[in-house]
Amino acid sequence: MPSILVTRPLPSAVLARLREVAAVDVHSEGAMPADLLKQRIAGKDALVSVVTDDINASLLDAAVALKVVANIAVGYNNIDVAYARSRGVIVTHTPDVLTGSVADLTWGMILAITRRLAEGDRLVRRQGWKGFALDFMLGTELTGKQLGLVGFGRIARAVASRAPAFGMHVAYADVVDAAHAQDGGFERMSLDRLLNTSDVISLHVPLTPETRHLIDKRALTRMKRSAYLVNTARGPVVEEAALAWALEQRLIAGAALDVYENEPAVHPDLLPLENVLLVPHLGSATTETRTAMANLAVSNVIAVLAGRSPLTPVPA
Ligand code: GLV
Repeated sequence: MPSILVTRPLPSAVLARLREVAAVDVHSEGAMPADLLKQRIAGKDALVSVVTDDINASLLDAAVALKVVANIAVGYNNIDVAYARSRGVIVTHTPDVLTGSVADLTWGMILAITRRLAEGDRLVRRQGWKGFALDFMLGTELTGKQLGLVGFGRIARAVASRAPAFGMHVAYADVVDAAHAQDGGFERMSLDRLLNTSDVISLHVPLTPETRHLIDKRALTRMKRSAYLVNTARGPVVEEAALAWALEQRLIAGAALDVYENEPAVHPDLLPLENVLLVPHLGSATTETRTAMANLAVSNVIAVLAGRSPLTPVPA
Protein backbone atom coordinates (compact mmCIF):
# COMPACT_ATOMS: atom_id res chain seq x y z
CA MET A 1 0.00 0.00 0.00
CA PRO A 2 1.36 3.47 -0.83
CA SER A 3 1.85 5.99 1.93
CA ILE A 4 0.83 9.64 2.00
CA LEU A 5 1.84 12.58 4.16
CA VAL A 6 -0.87 15.20 4.76
CA THR A 7 0.45 18.36 6.41
CA ARG A 8 -2.87 19.61 7.84
CA PRO A 9 -6.03 17.91 9.08
CA LEU A 10 -8.65 17.42 6.35
CA PRO A 11 -12.41 16.87 6.71
CA SER A 12 -12.89 13.24 7.80
CA ALA A 13 -14.90 12.28 4.70
CA VAL A 14 -12.05 13.54 2.51
CA LEU A 15 -9.40 11.71 4.53
CA ALA A 16 -11.49 8.54 4.32
CA ARG A 17 -11.12 8.64 0.52
CA LEU A 18 -7.34 8.66 0.91
CA ARG A 19 -7.39 5.89 3.53
CA GLU A 20 -9.11 3.58 1.02
CA VAL A 21 -6.00 3.62 -1.16
CA ALA A 22 -3.08 4.36 1.13
CA ALA A 23 -1.62 4.55 4.60
CA VAL A 24 -2.13 8.16 5.65
CA ASP A 25 0.12 10.12 8.00
CA VAL A 26 -1.59 13.38 9.03
CA HIS A 27 0.14 16.21 10.86
CA SER A 28 -2.59 17.78 12.95
CA GLU A 29 -0.78 20.30 15.18
CA GLY A 30 -0.88 23.47 13.06
CA ALA A 31 1.78 24.44 10.53
CA MET A 32 4.27 21.63 10.00
CA PRO A 33 7.83 22.66 10.95
CA ALA A 34 10.26 22.26 8.01
CA ASP A 35 12.51 19.76 9.82
CA LEU A 36 9.56 17.56 10.76
CA LEU A 37 8.24 17.69 7.21
CA LYS A 38 11.63 16.63 5.91
CA GLN A 39 11.75 13.74 8.37
CA ARG A 40 8.21 12.49 7.69
CA ILE A 41 8.36 12.85 3.87
CA ALA A 42 11.00 10.10 3.62
CA GLY A 43 9.48 7.04 2.00
CA LYS A 44 6.13 8.73 1.22
CA ASP A 45 4.58 8.30 -2.23
CA ALA A 46 2.45 11.42 -2.06
CA LEU A 47 2.32 14.72 -0.22
CA VAL A 48 -0.80 16.80 0.38
CA SER A 49 0.46 20.29 1.19
CA VAL A 50 -0.77 23.81 1.87
CA VAL A 51 0.61 27.25 1.03
CA THR A 52 2.67 27.49 4.22
CA ASP A 53 4.67 24.35 3.41
CA ASP A 54 7.96 25.17 1.69
CA ILE A 55 8.45 22.38 -0.83
CA ASN A 56 12.01 23.23 -1.85
CA ALA A 57 14.81 21.30 -3.53
CA SER A 58 16.30 19.99 -0.31
CA LEU A 59 12.92 18.66 0.84
CA LEU A 60 12.36 17.05 -2.55
CA ASP A 61 15.81 15.43 -2.31
CA ALA A 62 14.71 13.83 0.97
CA ALA A 63 11.53 12.53 -0.69
CA VAL A 64 13.01 9.74 -2.76
CA ALA A 65 9.76 7.80 -3.27
CA LEU A 66 7.58 10.85 -3.96
CA LYS A 67 5.35 10.76 -7.04
CA VAL A 68 2.99 13.67 -6.46
CA VAL A 69 2.66 16.88 -4.48
CA ALA A 70 -1.00 17.94 -4.28
CA ASN A 71 -1.14 21.53 -3.05
CA ILE A 72 -4.48 22.54 -1.52
CA ALA A 73 -4.34 26.00 -3.11
CA VAL A 74 -4.58 27.56 -6.53
CA GLY A 75 -1.20 29.25 -6.03
CA TYR A 76 1.93 27.10 -6.00
CA ASN A 77 4.74 29.57 -5.33
CA ASN A 78 5.54 27.53 -2.18
CA ILE A 79 6.76 24.67 -4.39
CA ASP A 80 9.91 24.45 -6.50
CA VAL A 81 7.92 23.13 -9.45
CA ALA A 82 10.86 23.02 -11.87
CA TYR A 83 12.93 20.94 -9.45
CA ALA A 84 9.99 18.64 -8.70
CA ARG A 85 9.55 18.08 -12.43
CA SER A 86 13.23 17.37 -12.88
CA ARG A 87 12.83 14.59 -10.31
CA GLY A 88 9.70 13.23 -12.03
CA VAL A 89 7.36 14.47 -9.28
CA ILE A 90 3.95 15.68 -10.48
CA VAL A 91 2.64 18.88 -8.88
CA THR A 92 -1.08 19.64 -8.75
CA HIS A 93 -3.14 22.57 -7.45
CA THR A 94 -6.82 23.40 -6.91
CA PRO A 95 -8.02 25.94 -9.48
CA ASP A 96 -11.69 26.72 -10.25
CA VAL A 97 -13.21 25.40 -7.02
CA LEU A 98 -12.15 28.52 -5.10
CA THR A 99 -12.71 31.16 -7.78
CA GLY A 100 -16.13 32.29 -6.54
CA SER A 101 -15.20 32.45 -2.87
CA VAL A 102 -12.07 34.53 -3.53
CA ALA A 103 -14.07 36.87 -5.79
CA ASP A 104 -16.72 37.24 -3.07
CA LEU A 105 -14.08 38.03 -0.46
CA THR A 106 -12.52 40.59 -2.80
CA TRP A 107 -15.86 42.38 -3.05
CA GLY A 108 -16.35 42.12 0.69
CA MET A 109 -12.99 43.83 1.16
CA ILE A 110 -13.72 46.49 -1.48
CA LEU A 111 -16.98 47.36 0.28
CA ALA A 112 -15.42 47.18 3.73
CA ILE A 113 -12.56 49.57 2.97
CA THR A 114 -14.52 52.07 0.87
CA ARG A 115 -17.31 52.21 3.48
CA ARG A 116 -14.94 52.06 6.49
CA LEU A 117 -16.65 49.07 8.09
CA ALA A 118 -13.78 47.78 10.23
CA GLU A 119 -12.88 51.32 11.29
CA GLY A 120 -16.50 51.90 12.34
CA ASP A 121 -16.60 48.57 14.16
CA ARG A 122 -13.45 49.49 16.10
CA LEU A 123 -14.95 52.86 17.04
CA VAL A 124 -18.21 51.35 18.30
CA ARG A 125 -16.40 48.69 20.34
CA ARG A 126 -14.22 51.23 22.11
CA GLN A 127 -17.40 53.21 22.84
CA GLY A 128 -16.11 56.16 20.83
CA TRP A 129 -19.26 56.67 18.74
CA LYS A 130 -20.97 59.96 19.52
CA GLY A 131 -24.06 59.29 17.42
CA PHE A 132 -25.38 59.97 13.93
CA ALA A 133 -24.11 63.03 12.06
CA LEU A 134 -24.51 63.97 8.40
CA ASP A 135 -20.79 64.34 7.89
CA PHE A 136 -19.71 61.41 10.04
CA MET A 137 -17.35 58.67 8.73
CA LEU A 138 -18.11 59.29 5.10
CA GLY A 139 -16.90 56.70 2.66
CA THR A 140 -16.61 56.52 -1.11
CA GLU A 141 -19.33 55.53 -3.57
CA LEU A 142 -18.52 52.73 -6.04
CA THR A 143 -21.13 53.49 -8.68
CA GLY A 144 -19.62 55.06 -11.80
CA LYS A 145 -16.04 54.38 -10.66
CA GLN A 146 -13.34 52.30 -12.33
CA LEU A 147 -12.24 48.95 -10.94
CA GLY A 148 -8.73 48.15 -12.18
CA LEU A 149 -7.78 44.48 -12.12
CA VAL A 150 -4.10 43.57 -12.24
CA GLY A 151 -4.04 40.14 -13.85
CA PHE A 152 -7.08 38.81 -15.68
CA GLY A 153 -7.22 35.11 -14.92
CA ARG A 154 -10.07 33.09 -13.45
CA ILE A 155 -10.40 35.00 -10.17
CA ALA A 156 -10.09 38.47 -11.74
CA ARG A 157 -12.81 37.56 -14.23
CA ALA A 158 -15.10 36.39 -11.44
CA VAL A 159 -14.45 39.71 -9.68
CA ALA A 160 -15.21 41.54 -12.96
CA SER A 161 -18.45 39.61 -13.46
CA ARG A 162 -19.72 40.91 -10.09
CA ALA A 163 -18.83 44.55 -10.91
CA PRO A 164 -22.12 45.48 -12.68
CA ALA A 165 -23.96 44.83 -9.39
CA PHE A 166 -22.02 47.78 -7.95
CA GLY A 167 -22.13 49.95 -11.09
CA MET A 168 -18.38 49.80 -11.65
CA HIS A 169 -16.61 49.97 -14.98
CA VAL A 170 -13.84 47.34 -15.26
CA ALA A 171 -10.35 47.79 -16.70
CA TYR A 172 -7.60 45.22 -16.56
CA ALA A 173 -3.87 44.95 -17.13
CA ASP A 174 -2.44 41.58 -18.05
CA VAL A 175 0.40 40.24 -20.12
CA VAL A 176 -2.13 38.50 -22.34
CA ASP A 177 -5.18 39.98 -24.03
CA ALA A 178 -8.14 38.13 -22.57
CA ALA A 179 -10.31 36.59 -25.26
CA HIS A 180 -13.89 37.91 -25.11
CA ALA A 181 -13.01 40.51 -22.47
CA GLN A 182 -14.47 43.19 -24.71
CA ASP A 183 -17.79 41.32 -24.81
CA GLY A 184 -18.04 41.99 -21.10
CA GLY A 185 -17.09 45.64 -21.65
CA PHE A 186 -13.78 45.15 -19.87
CA GLU A 187 -11.05 47.46 -21.12
CA ARG A 188 -7.42 46.31 -21.36
CA MET A 189 -4.79 48.92 -20.58
CA SER A 190 -1.15 49.19 -19.55
CA LEU A 191 -0.39 48.78 -15.86
CA ASP A 192 0.69 52.42 -15.65
CA ARG A 193 -2.56 53.69 -17.15
CA LEU A 194 -4.56 51.35 -14.93
CA LEU A 195 -2.76 52.65 -11.84
CA ASN A 196 -3.31 56.24 -13.00
CA THR A 197 -6.99 55.98 -13.77
CA SER A 198 -8.56 53.39 -11.43
CA ASP A 199 -10.52 54.16 -8.27
CA VAL A 200 -10.12 50.65 -6.85
CA ILE A 201 -7.16 48.46 -7.87
CA SER A 202 -7.38 44.77 -7.11
CA LEU A 203 -4.46 42.36 -7.55
CA HIS A 204 -4.98 38.93 -9.12
CA VAL A 205 -1.57 37.84 -10.35
CA PRO A 206 0.38 34.79 -9.20
CA LEU A 207 3.60 35.38 -7.27
CA THR A 208 6.54 35.04 -9.68
CA PRO A 209 9.91 36.79 -9.92
CA GLU A 210 8.20 39.29 -12.29
CA THR A 211 5.32 40.13 -9.94
CA ARG A 212 7.33 40.34 -6.67
CA HIS A 213 6.99 43.97 -5.48
CA LEU A 214 5.02 44.85 -8.61
CA ILE A 215 3.28 47.38 -6.38
CA ASP A 216 6.23 49.34 -5.03
CA LYS A 217 6.75 53.00 -4.17
CA ARG A 218 6.78 53.96 -7.82
CA ALA A 219 3.50 52.17 -8.56
CA LEU A 220 1.83 53.59 -5.45
CA THR A 221 2.77 57.14 -6.39
CA ARG A 222 1.10 56.61 -9.77
CA MET A 223 -2.25 55.86 -8.13
CA LYS A 224 -4.90 58.52 -7.55
CA ARG A 225 -4.87 59.99 -4.06
CA SER A 226 -8.51 58.91 -3.80
CA ALA A 227 -7.81 55.30 -4.86
CA TYR A 228 -7.89 52.04 -2.88
CA LEU A 229 -5.63 49.00 -3.26
CA VAL A 230 -6.92 45.48 -2.60
CA ASN A 231 -4.68 42.39 -2.40
CA THR A 232 -6.16 38.91 -2.24
CA ALA A 233 -3.36 37.42 -4.39
CA ARG A 234 0.01 37.00 -2.65
CA GLY A 235 1.60 39.30 -0.09
CA PRO A 236 4.99 39.85 -1.77
CA VAL A 237 3.27 41.32 -4.86
CA VAL A 238 3.03 44.47 -2.70
CA GLU A 239 6.04 46.04 -1.02
CA GLU A 240 4.49 46.32 2.42
CA ALA A 241 6.85 49.00 3.75
CA ALA A 242 6.12 51.19 0.70
CA LEU A 243 2.38 50.65 1.16
CA ALA A 244 2.53 51.64 4.83
CA TRP A 245 4.42 54.79 3.79
CA ALA A 246 1.87 55.64 1.05
CA LEU A 247 -1.07 55.12 3.42
CA GLU A 248 0.56 57.11 6.17
CA GLN A 249 1.32 59.96 3.76
CA ARG A 250 -2.25 59.70 2.39
CA LEU A 251 -0.87 59.22 -1.12
CA ILE A 252 -3.71 56.75 -1.58
CA ALA A 253 -7.04 56.62 0.26
CA GLY A 254 -6.83 53.12 1.63
CA ALA A 255 -5.88 49.49 1.22
CA ALA A 256 -7.36 46.11 2.04
CA LEU A 257 -5.03 43.15 2.47
CA ASP A 258 -5.82 39.46 2.79
CA VAL A 259 -2.20 38.36 2.25
CA TYR A 260 1.16 39.58 3.58
CA GLU A 261 4.83 39.47 2.74
CA ASN A 262 5.77 37.37 5.78
CA GLU A 263 2.58 35.70 7.01
CA PRO A 264 1.41 35.64 9.70
CA ALA A 265 3.54 38.72 10.46
CA VAL A 266 2.20 42.07 9.28
CA HIS A 267 4.44 45.09 8.73
CA PRO A 268 4.28 46.94 12.08
CA ASP A 269 3.74 50.31 10.36
CA LEU A 270 0.42 49.06 8.98
CA LEU A 271 -1.05 48.14 12.34
CA PRO A 272 -1.83 51.64 13.70
CA LEU A 273 -3.37 52.87 10.44
CA GLU A 274 -7.15 53.29 10.22
CA ASN A 275 -7.15 53.37 6.41
CA VAL A 276 -6.07 49.77 5.95
CA LEU A 277 -8.21 46.66 6.35
CA LEU A 278 -6.23 43.62 7.52
CA VAL A 279 -7.79 40.22 6.90
CA PRO A 280 -6.07 36.92 7.86
CA HIS A 281 -5.72 35.09 4.48
CA LEU A 282 -9.39 34.16 4.16
CA GLY A 283 -9.74 34.19 0.35
CA SER A 284 -10.98 30.62 -0.02
CA ALA A 285 -12.08 30.19 3.59
CA THR A 286 -15.62 28.87 3.34
CA THR A 287 -16.59 25.38 4.46
CA GLU A 288 -17.86 24.54 0.98
CA THR A 289 -14.76 25.76 -0.85
CA ARG A 290 -12.19 24.31 1.54
CA THR A 291 -13.94 20.94 1.33
CA ALA A 292 -13.95 21.13 -2.47
CA MET A 293 -10.24 22.07 -2.49
CA ALA A 294 -9.33 19.16 -0.20
CA ASN A 295 -11.42 16.77 -2.31
CA LEU A 296 -9.76 17.95 -5.52
CA ALA A 297 -6.27 17.54 -4.03
CA VAL A 298 -7.19 14.03 -2.88
CA SER A 299 -8.60 13.18 -6.32
CA ASN A 300 -5.29 14.28 -7.83
CA VAL A 301 -3.34 12.02 -5.45
CA ILE A 302 -5.62 9.04 -6.09
CA ALA A 303 -5.32 9.51 -9.86
CA VAL A 304 -1.51 9.68 -9.84
CA LEU A 305 -1.13 6.72 -7.46
CA ALA A 306 -3.42 4.71 -9.77
CA GLY A 307 -1.20 5.57 -12.74
CA ARG A 308 -3.70 8.02 -14.28
CA SER A 309 -3.20 11.68 -15.23
CA PRO A 310 -3.96 14.17 -12.47
CA LEU A 311 -7.11 16.27 -12.85
CA THR A 312 -5.47 19.63 -12.25
CA PRO A 313 -1.69 19.61 -12.72
CA VAL A 314 -0.01 23.01 -12.40
CA PRO A 315 0.41 24.59 -15.85
CA ALA A 316 3.57 23.64 -17.74
C1 GLV B 1 -4.52 30.35 -1.37
O1 GLV B 1 -3.85 31.26 -1.06
C2 GLV B 1 -4.51 29.71 -2.65
O2 GLV B 1 -3.58 29.92 -3.46
O3 GLV B 1 -5.43 28.94 -2.91
